Amino acid sequence: MFEGLKPLPQDPILQLMQQFREDPRQDKVDLGIGVYKDAAGHTPIMAAVREAERRLLATETSKGYVGPAGSAGFNDAMAALILGRDNALRRDGRVSVVQTPGGCGALRMAAEFLRLCRPDTTVWVSNPTWGNHRPLLGGAGLAIREYPYLDPATLEVDFEAMLEALAQARAGDVVLLHGCCHNPSGADLTLAQWRRVTEVILRRGLLPFVDLAYQGLGEGLEEDVAGLRQLAAEVPEMIVAASCSKNFGLYRERTGALMLICASPANREAATSQLLSAIRSHYSMPPAHGAAIVETILADDGLRRQWQDELGAMCQRILGLRHALADALAPAGDFGFIARQRGMFSFLGIGPDQVRRLRETHGIYMLESSRVNVAGLNEQTLPVVAEAIRGVL
Ligand code: LMR
Repeated sequence: MFEGLKPLPQDPILQLMQQFREDPRQDKVDLGIGVYKDAAGHTPIMAAVREAERRLLATETSKGYVGPAGSAGFNDAMAALILGRDNALRRDGRVSVVQTPGGCGALRMAAEFLRLCRPDTTVWVSNPTWGNHRPLLGGAGLAIREYPYLDPATLEVDFEAMLEALAQARAGDVVLLHGCCHNPSGADLTLAQWRRVTEVILRRGLLPFVDLAYQGLGEGLEEDVAGLRQLAAEVPEMIVAASCSKNFGLYRERTGALMLICASPANREAATSQLLSAIRSHYSMPPAHGAAIVETILADDGLRRQWQDELGAMCQRILGLRHALADALAPAGDFGFIARQRGMFSFLGIGPDQVRRLRETHGIYMLESSRVNVAGLNEQTLPVVAEAIRGVL
């Protein structure tokens, strides 16, 4: 049975992670996979997470099954975090949230759900988009089309081209948007642009699907979902896939949420039952630990404040690094876009040969597309990295 199989290349992001781990050089710098690193180059466990874990360990009494939807407390807390505590959609019974194994679990189950709604669903994704979007959504059998998003000359949003493409979408097509901190470009829509996208979605009868993997790491917890909330208030239906990997630093705990906004409470009930049935036939139920941490933090005023402070400090640190990198590269060209962009990633706009030279000669790792994880820099490595980049330009 297995003898006919050919080896497949690894996912480029994961391959780079492995290559970096195997590189014996002491002074190597990892700007590849999107994980936050502190000033010491370490991916820390947030203090609020540690404290929540301590409490959980002291009070947990069972490892019994959680059920396909996961924890109701977590799901409710995530709905409040994303839409706001006092949100009309939640009050009106139009919102359903299920706990998922990471943002990937949410994206994949959203795709499975969409296939149940309509087997010939087309999802429009930005060009460029995160490398795992196509496998996650296309792997569920959905057709994928691209809308232009980034102007390759300026590395900023080509908004008119985006709108023009979306105006070609058919009623019922799905539009995948990045809630904030666009991965891989860091180029986000302004609130005015979210409004215009909302207009196209309404006019064409499209279904918005927001991937929210970086809430709190762009400008702030509220600011980063302002566009999403504006959209949610206008449209009859919407999907949100949220990740707690980055904003709670829970990467390996696989913690995420999938939200459906439905046209009516009756609709919500039917849609949720379909989604739960799909979950049952895929992984039965999500892992509990990460979600229990998030629930504990969000339910406790003190822990929540502590988490918000820590997240705010991470966000400010990334913004500081963005400005410092743009300044350090300024002698070699205009890199001001890095300071204007948000979240972990930006493209440097250099070619694969230059990317390879940086890796081979200097031990500096970034994706072949020149996407760098700005959050992988620190005060020591930034000047060294900037000098090396200037050297290959
Ligand atoms: C990234 O883009 O580097 C992150 O989202 C991590 C991943 O799984 O690819």
